[in-house]
Amino acid sequence: MLAIRRFVAKRSYSFVTTPIFYVNAAPHVGHVYSAVLADALHRWHRIQGKSPAIFSTGTDEHGLKVQHAAASQNMDPQLFCDDVSRLFKKLFNAYDVSYNDYVRTTERRHVECVEYFWNRLAANGWLYKDSYEGWYSVSDETFVGKSQVTQFDDEHGNQCMVSTETGNVVEWTKEENYMFRLSHFKEQLLSWLNCHSAAVYPSVYATEVKEFVSNGLADLSVSRQSSRLQWGIPVPNDPSQMIYVWLDALVNYLTVAGYPHNNFHWPPTHHIVGKDIVKFHAIYWPAFLMAVGLDPPKRVVVHAHWTRDTLKMSKSRGNVVDPFDNLRHWGSDVIRYYLLKDGSLHRDSDYCDDRIASSLNGDLADSLGNLLQRCTAPSLNPSQSVPPLPDVDRMTREDKTVMDAMNRLCDTVPKLFDHLEFNKGLEAIINCLHIANQYFTHARPWTMAGDPSSRDRLNIILLLPIEVLRLCGLLLLPVIPNAAERMLNRLGVPVAARNADFIKCCLNEPTAFVNCYGVECALDGDMSVLFRKVKI
Ligand code: ME8
Ligand code: MG
Repeated sequence: MLAIRRFVAKRSYSFVTTPIFYVNAAPHVGHVYSAVLADALHRWHRIQGKSPAIFSTGTDEHGLKVQHAAASQNMDPQLFCDDVSRLFKKLFNAYDVSYNDYVRTTERRHVECVEYFWNRLAANGWLYKDSYEGWYSVSDETFVGKSQVTQFDDEHGNQCMVSTETGNVVEWTKEENYMFRLSHFKEQLLSWLNCHSAAVYPSVYATEVKEFVSNGLADLSVSRQSSRLQWGIPVPNDPSQMIYVWLDALVNYLTVAGYPHNNFHWPPTHHIVGKDIVKFHAIYWPAFLMAVGLDPPKRVVVHAHWTRDTLKMSKSRGNVVDPFDNLRHWGSDVIRYYLLKDGSLHRDSDYCDDRIASSLNGDLADSLGNLLQRCTAPSLNPSQSVPPLPDVDRMTREDKTVMDAMNRLCDTVPKLFDHLEFNKGLEAIINCLHIANQYFTHARPWTMAGDPSSRDRLNIILLLPIEVLRLCGLLLLPVIPNAAERMLNRLGVPVAARNADFIKCCLNEPTAFVNCYGVECALDGDMSVLFRKVKI
């Protein structure tokens, strides 16, 4: 009863999004990272009972970049988009990304949403037509300020201009466009950023954004001439112009929210984005929303990049890791674990197969899988049941060390996961598993098997690691959903006891113990190993 009441009181809202990815080329590991990070957060929210849980991902299909990619393959753009979008979807399914909406910007519902949004901007007086000239990067689909371009000699000795931020080629364009009065939103954006200290998270990115906004914002071109860009959403009532692909793309978050229909869910709680697209999410997007009278997102979560030999992995650069190859080799849980353990919001990570192998062998096989095999082994536990609750007064100092480790685990990891610090959370989990393994080794339970006088002692030595594994299993559900579920099955943990209310040590409380393990306290018969080690 108690558990249920708290569950209701804690109930809050979860709306997590990934960026929608360009379909100009096949997906790579960087995209998988954003999706897996968002998925882990979404699963964590579900475990906490947050609702309604919207979790969206999808593909960004309009714009010059995609138009060029389709043309270079002599393909009809829609068919080209269908193919690549299907590939992203297949990839995310294979990595157990549990999205519940997959949005494509070429879908009717999205086009209608963008048209409605555009009309609101226009009706509120935020758009005007002007002649615009400047540098445009097709690869980044953005205009680049004069101070942010530089001359560059390519390998053939040809001179071109490139963006200093991304290194991508820019071209001078001059055309009549619709402009958005972004300059008007400087104060409103600053006050949003100052009042909500975690609106852009982690804070290093917030500092950069504030500095950028403080220096003043120019109005933004939000359309392109149809003569140049054919693959897009036409401006309502002016087919000579196409809506700028970033305005189109950002509105995807409103599409999945059900805007502008009754009772649409707003605002999102977490937009997960890479550090390459902060400006769009933390400046343009909130300004667009303010302009139509909607709340900005609660939090823009920014993550660093995956590199290959220290260069950013990117489709245009061609130094990408094929996430399908990878999956065939390692399986979803292993890569998810590796990405969340080595990836970070703060600093770039270099993708490396040896690191995957050592996480698999050391953490997943040795620390986690091995502990499960040890404390459920039929030789030590012939009845294949969860041992009965011990008399707490008879616990030794060593037993208490494990109890303390469990209490610390339940205290720290949920807070870290709330803040998307999955890498630190996983470190804490592995640390606790180390303590339990050491305890088991030192206690030498194999010397007690079959000796009736040691039965109580043996029960404790098996039960403490089982409880550690139950807690780690619950905490690992967002990260390695398949293995964690198999482990909880093996321990006989009822499905109803797989949520955040049960993330506390239950060995002090008979009622909690029965709730956590079920009345029968029986282990499940599936004894197959969780993870197999590989040769390095
Ligand atoms: O920018 N490391 O799409 P995009 C980590 N369509 N994450 C990476 C990465 C890397 N090396 N490379 C890409 C777009 N990503 C727009 C977004 S949203 C309204 C529109 C991830 O296909 C990261 O999340 O270029 C980055 O922000 C995103 O993919 C860019 O994907
Ligand atoms: Mg990109």
